[in-house]
Amino acid sequence: MSEKANVAVFISGGGTNLQSLINASHEGKLSATIVLVVSRRENVYGLERAHRAGIDTFVYNPKRYPDKQAAHKDLIEMMESYAVDYIALAGYLNLLPESLVRKYRNRITNIHPALLPKHGGKGMFGHHVHEAVIAAGDTESGATVHLVDEIYDNGRILLQKKVPVLPDDTPDSLAARVLEVEHEIYPIALENLIQGK
Ligand code: GRF
Repeated sequence: MSEKANVAVFISGGGTNLQSLINASHEGKLSATIVLVVSRRENVYGLERAHRAGIDTFVYNPKRYPDKQAAHKDLIEMMESYAVDYIALAGYLNLLPESLVRKYRNRITNIHPALLPKHGGKGMFGHHVHEAVIAAGDTESGATVHLVDEIYDNGRILLQKKVPVLPDDTPDSLAARVLEVEHEIYPIALENLIQGK
């Protein structure tokens, strides 16, 4: 058995968190090999980042299968064929199949751009999150890495880091501040999980 854990990263977009995980694994800060990048969409920049790093990619579109069951089965078989130990969601916008969550219980992580349990749940992604934080008048926000279960943004919190919300913040300026700490904490949280800390 190899010493490093095999990780699949699931994305839907630009993949800056994917990039921070790739960088951390190249720098030896993450004892993991990213063996596969799964994207829900074609033509996203995250796939380009994977190609540049020499990582295999798989575009997962459940609509291309005769039914949900066939789609879920193929996704799980893909994880098996790459001997995936951990799954890191990085901007992946959909709920995972329950069969996959069951199989990888406590080995799937997600990063959320707010301080969960506040500002999470269905529909709370991207600018919606930062708009809600500003609308609530919160004076701090941040990033949360958590385990994934069957409910959106619900699993055990692994690591959080706060940032201030400034009086003149827009959703974009707040998102940029939060994204910086996302890139910082995701590799640390994943490494701690892999090391059993
Ligand atoms: C991040 O803000 C992450 O917290 C959220 O989706 C965004 C993904 O950004 N889940 P990127 O694709 O990693 O750049």
